Amino acid sequence: MLYIGIDLGTSAVKLLLMDETGRIHNVVSREYPLFFPHPGWSEQNPEDWFEQTLAGLEELVSGADRDKVAGISFGGQMHGLVILDENDAVIRPAILWNDGRTVKETDYLNQEIGRDRLSEYTANIAFAGFTAPKLLWVRDNEPENFARIRRIMLPKDYLCYRLSGTFATDLSDASGMLLLDVKNRRWSKEMLEICGVTEDQLPQLFESYEKVGTLKPELAKRLGLPEAVVIAAGAGDNAAAAVGTGTVGDGRCNISLGTSGTIFISSRQFRVDSNNALHSFDHADGTYHLMGCMLSAASCNKWWMDDILATKDYAGEQADITKLGENHVFFLPYLMGERSPWNDPMARATFTGITMDTTRADLTQAVLEGVCFATRDMYEIARSLGVHVDRTKICGGGAKSPLWRRMIANILNIKVDVPACEEGPGMGGAMLAMVADGVYATVEDAANAIVKVRETEEPDPELVAKYEERYRQFRTLYPALKPVFQEIAK
Ligand code: XUL
Repeated sequence: MLYIGIDLGTSAVKLLLMDETGRIHNVVSREYPLFFPHPGWSEQNPEDWFEQTLAGLEELVSGADRDKVAGISFGGQMHGLVILDENDAVIRPAILWNDGRTVKETDYLNQEIGRDRLSEYTANIAFAGFTAPKLLWVRDNEPENFARIRRIMLPKDYLCYRLSGTFATDLSDASGMLLLDVKNRRWSKEMLEICGVTEDQLPQLFESYEKVGTLKPELAKRLGLPEAVVIAAGAGDNAAAAVGTGTVGDGRCNISLGTSGTIFISSRQFRVDSNNALHSFDHADGTYHLMGCMLSAASCNKWWMDDILATKDYAGEQADITKLGENHVFFLPYLMGERSPWNDPMARATFTGITMDTTRADLTQAVLEGVCFATRDMYEIARSLGVHVDRTKICGGGAKSPLWRRMIANILNIKVDVPACEEGPGMGGAMLAMVADGVYATVEDAANAIVKVRETEEPDPELVAKYEERYRQFRTLYPALKPVFQEIAK
């Protein structure tokens, strides 16, 4: 049989068609616009997601044996606020995970409601990109929109609703709303009250691998697919990517270098970092995970290549980088402010240490290294919690670069296992659909059967030592520049 994974990303929706042995039959991608209506704001049109997903689905199955398609599921960009009125019309553009407008609301939640209470109710504190502060922002800034809200959902849940008619979400994605009691896997009554919303405005909760319904008959007809196609709840893109890279069960790690950068550690036990610097969320396999998220990762390199150097030759630019561990230029990757570990929407990106002999390649190298140093910041928090991982999987667009993988291995001093398939969230989505359809009994069974490692990047002790010193220098930059960022972001 065939299964479809839909990865609803920030720059594009990527769709993947896979059979139950893990063989990929087709992959298609469709882009849509991202809007920055004010500095630090980030919005998208849910209708664009749906239109491009439908067009993508048509293309994906066009050459396939459509009768064999048995299931669809999702990995979706997390935290985005999608609100519908009583006629199911989208009330305003979705406010995305990397939107920094909610400084006031986040401060209110963390300081007045208080971090301890938030952590007790949800296992997390407020970060600007989370959904609850966005609800407060709409309540206070667009009261007429707030009054019209009938349904509140996350980005991939909008696709699920349009495709199946079921108003559903899954626990991994719901964890990032700051409305969920993560430990007990149910909505937090206290948080709903604080945000002025009721449970009937929120989707029904499912485990990621549970069936929520089937494809609507009119869509099945339009796509030429069986009406019995199972739709599974799916997961936030990081949890889906973790499934797709086999990061399930206990103590496994995945690093994603996508638009955002994340470090994801699976855990059978529920645990909370005492400073809440890492998110404590439900996992798509029915367990838990800890996660750090930096807001700009591969997007830093994309910005540097596309917008500044005006080139598409990423590999060519990277070929000129030869002096690993010896670069004296540093790049702080805070193009959209930063979430983990600083929780600072005012943080900004910088180059530091440029001299007359600095080359274009040094700057490109600094951008790639800056993302790795910031990933190390998150890794250090995990280590300080006693989490010891000596190897990680890697996925996301940035993981396609051998040089970037090498930097990660040496800057974190960790073995990097490169999965045979880099389509983490899409693959995870398809695997969740297989579990919902009964092909595999558990997500772990699906991962054991399907995920393969292509190669491993081993850290080189000499390079690790050089990078250790560079990382020490990198660590001094943000604290020194923080007051400057506060001043210039005004
Ligand atoms: C995770 C996060 C990002 C988005 C990217 O907390 O905000 O990784 O999910 O799509």
